[in-house]
Amino acid sequence: MAIRKSPVSSPASSRLASRAASAQIDGSVPATTRVAVPAWAASDEQQSRVWAALSEQLGDDAQWPAFDARLRAHLGDLRRELAPLYGARPDFEAFLIKLLGNAFSAWRERSPELKALDQAREADPQWFHSNRMLGGVCYVDLFAGDLKGIEASIPYFKELGLTYLHLMPPFLCPEPHSDGGYAVSSYRAVKPSLGRIEDLRHLAQRLREEGISLVLDFVFNHTSDEHDWARGALAKDPFYSEFFYIFPDRTQPDAYERTVREIFPDEHPGAFSQLEDGRWVWTTFHSYQWDLNYGNPEVFNAMAGEMLFIANLGVEFLRMDAVAFIWKRLGTPCENLPEAHHLLRAYNALARIAAPSLLFKSEAIVHPDDVVKYIEPAECQISYNPLQMALLWNTLATREVNMLQKALEQRHHIPDGTAWVNYVRSHDDIGWTFADEDAIQMGIQGFDHRTFLNRFYVNRFAGSFARGVPFQDNPATGDCRISGTAASLCGLEQGDPHAVARLLLLYGVVLSSGGIPLIYLGDEIGALNDLHWADDPGHGGDSRWVHRPVRDLARSAQRDDPSTAPGRIYAGLRHLIALRQHLPSLAGGRLHAFWTRNRSVLGYLRSGEGQGGGGNILVLGNFSEHPQAIDAAVLLGMPAAAVDLIGQTAFNLRTGFTLAPYQMVWLDCRGG
Ligand code: GLC
Ligand code: GLC
Repeated sequence: MAIRKSPVSSPASSRLASRAASAQIDGSVPATTRVAVPAWAASDEQQSRVWAALSEQLGDDAQWPAFDARLRAHLGDLRRELAPLYGARPDFEAFLIKLLGNAFSAWRERSPELKALDQAREADPQWFHSNRMLGGVCYVDLFAGDLKGIEASIPYFKELGLTYLHLMPPFLCPEPHSDGGYAVSSYRAVKPSLGRIEDLRHLAQRLREEGISLVLDFVFNHTSDEHDWARGALAKDPFYSEFFYIFPDRTQPDAYERTVREIFPDEHPGAFSQLEDGRWVWTTFHSYQWDLNYGNPEVFNAMAGEMLFIANLGVEFLRMDAVAFIWKRLGTPCENLPEAHHLLRAYNALARIAAPSLLFKSEAIVHPDDVVKYIEPAECQISYNPLQMALLWNTLATREVNMLQKALEQRHHIPDGTAWVNYVRSHDDIGWTFADEDAIQMGIQGFDHRTFLNRFYVNRFAGSFARGVPFQDNPATGDCRISGTAASLCGLEQGDPHAVARLLLLYGVVLSSGGIPLIYLGDEIGALNDLHWADDPGHGGDSRWVHRPVRDLARSAQRDDPSTAPGRIYAGLRHLIALRQHLPSLAGGRLHAFWTRNRSVLGYLRSGEGQGGGGNILVLGNFSEHPQAIDAAVLLGMPAAAVDLIGQTAFNLRTGFTLAPYQMVWLDCRGG
């Protein structure tokens, strides 16, 4: 198969590439430059050469002025981030020119609607800090069969209140092994059973018309082994061989594995997989997911093209998959390296230039100190909050709010212009990613505590209400994570009387602690574990499929019936969502967690600095199956009378009161 293709597509950028090549040979500013170098670039010779070469070539195009304005604003950022990675190469300048030539081609292809959106979003960069923001996430096939089915589900998404819809990767992927779509064979084609790329573009537009932003993954750490690039590398094409980490024998893999942890040890030990021809390829995740080598600038360039293609489909947030792993260096854990941040910020600068309304969501399920390093306006504007997620489940198991409260006090604040995506469940496992240093301060020993949590959630602990399944149980390291739907982990599967209240309590925190709340679709009707997950082709061995059931239409039909568990969950959740839509202080604004003097009761105050102002909302949640008393002394600074917005009951804060098992209150203190 003839694999090699030039990533440069347009005639304009081909001209550029050849010009860049000649600029590199004589190393000087092209003699023919007829454009005056702008003041902003004059202080920096390389920057001015790059800009001059581009404007020389593209300046006559009607689309150039809008591109140029953004180029001027962000070229410095782009170059600053790429220089530490590739700046020492003699072809660095040519690389930049080629990259930006491709970016211009992508910009030119961007639809007028998206260009209008770009302008609107640039004028209101805080738009996503809104109490009306609500996310949902699902698999296209499991939720609705195909992309047209998703489009037909828009009324349901609106009924729920979604403004953000994350679809698991719908792109072409190997069958039956695709890691739920996270092994991408082409970023420009949709998996045939789901539809066509035009359906995706149409869906993005329809969603936008309905006020829902489409979110897709940017799976850029790896491709599937069926991607053209991987096929090229397998065929020993010299260009594509440099796209991956492929080694002739175990020498380098052994050297790397001394410091690299195993992510999917059930599937293959270590970080490498052996090819049929005996060579070894880096596969952090499954053996059919080959890690890309970003040490090679051609990889950056090629993936930039895919990123802008996806952006031009109408995607508004890109979930940056597996960000922690994208840069490798011998002798390090090959996770969270500084170069990973340079890469992300470079992609971000490129987005600001060629697809400005595109924002990034970080997926870093790592130590909390590392999670926050990805979150800033110039890198990822939003991020999963895996610490809050894990500690919500921790608190249900222990009935002690200490760790969650500390996290809210000390680790919740992130820079202005960024937001957490708070969630209860995702399509992935639950990993206990709290910081051992935080835990030990409370007398909690990290390893032992994780062992307890794993036993609790897989029902190997007396009295547990949870019905989870172990994921990647690794006896060698003692590491293990948890699979299972939120409802099954809350006790619904085993008929525990508090299951519904537990689930609503978790979502109550997610909906009141700021940022963008994200619902794993199915949770809103209490979807239970799929007990037959291992029978599906390609799923056996990956227990995460237990919490990826096909949408249960019969259950969904019960959502308006309060005599059923799905009905009670749905009504409870809808009630919280509707309340939040009227409470600006629950989105932006500050969160002040405090010690309620009751170890099972979480307390925080949301103060109204959010968009549109608002006042104080006092949130209290009882994480135990017993009634819990709140001492009036704890609430001394608060007004005497407050109304619980959830239960619509009046509270006298001067006398103290008792919360029912798993009760949450949102006390409206705005009047006082
Ligand atoms: C991310 C995805 C996960 C996938 C992995 C490899 O962590 O969330 O589902 O297995 O990346 O792409
Ligand atoms: C995926 C895996 C998870 C792993 C994470 C690392 O989300 O499912 O187990 O810890 O990647 O980013």
